Amino acid sequence: MEAVILHGGQGTRLRPLTHTGPKQLIKVAGKPVSQWVLEQIRDAGIKDVITILGDNNPTRVVEYYGDGSRFNVSIRYVYQGKARGLADAIYRVKDLVSDRFIVYLGDNIVPYDLSKFSNFHGSASILLAKVDNPQRFGVAIIKDEKVVKLIEKPKERISDLALVGVYGFTREIFEVIENLKPSWRGELEITDAIQGLIDKGRGVEYQIVDGWWKDTGTPKDILEANYFLLDKHTVRRIEGEVKDSTIDGRVVIERGASIINSIIRGPVYIGVGSKVVNSYIGPFTSIGDNCIIENSEIENSVLLDNVTVKGVSLMDSLIGNNSRVEKGNKWQKLIVGENSTVII
Ligand code: G1P
Repeated sequence: MEAVILHGGQGTRLRPLTHTGPKQLIKVAGKPVSQWVLEQIRDAGIKDVITILGDNNPTRVVEYYGDGSRFNVSIRYVYQGKARGLADAIYRVKDLVSDRFIVYLGDNIVPYDLSKFSNFHGSASILLAKVDNPQRFGVAIIKDEKVVKLIEKPKERISDLALVGVYGFTREIFEVIENLKPSWRGELEITDAIQGLIDKGRGVEYQIVDGWWKDTGTPKDILEANYFLLDKHTVRRIEGEVKDSTIDGRVVIERGASIINSIIRGPVYIGVGSKVVNSYIGPFTSIGDNCIIENSEIENSVLLDNVTVKGVSLMDSLIGNNSRVEKGNKWQKLIVGENSTVII
């Protein structure tokens, strides 16, 4: 069995973070979102991975994951190019998969036992979760424990069971995709393809995720995913240097990092080579690699790589790679990009 991880999409709601790379590579709790996905797949015993690349800096994905050996899996790449929908992306693996395979959207985090999911018997299998905002998703109507209808982005509230981004397929899906028409948003929808299987009388199984999951489409989603993953996975591990500091609770300090005259209160992740001086880093904060934090307080935030923060207090913040946030004098000097939020 193969697992297919999707890396497409423009990530418009995460701009400007997605101007330089796909949203699936944004690091939460120390790892790109899609690495959490990859490791979950591997831990369920699936070692044969196919990654579908979109057109937003796809080489960044290949550079990061390589042939997969660093993660104990084997990865093959397929280039989808311009996004024409999930079904179009999935069709690209037609010649690469065996009888049964799973598909995982690389921007979703679904803490669910995949070995329980991949063991399906029907023509397809879907994972569902109860949501408050079903109009943002594809939804399923279940009657007598059977999937009877699937609708992408329903206008009316016909069901609150959303399709989360994990699917199980047999090769039958390719034939349906060949006959699929684009939806109103001009995409070949995987939801419509699965409906096509139902229309042909094929069995579509489902399982329900009971608990937290996330489609990490917005900054708020990234912060929530960071909170959840830090809380669930952080095990105290201190490899960097600690001097005149207090390190409380579940904290990871990677090699080459140094914490000087500071207080760190977990769960917190501090990446390789980062330097924290005269500062307080509070719960649910992830700091990427090679960051510099001085005379600052940071809580419940995500700082990506090579970020400099000096003399400020940050909460619920998401700071992109290679950014600087510094306290100025009375007059603020700002160069602010499109769609930014600056609160001073
Ligand atoms: C896609 C699917 C949708 C599914 C969602 C899960 O939506 O089309 O059916 O519920 O992923 O994240 P999109 O992210 O393309 O809006």
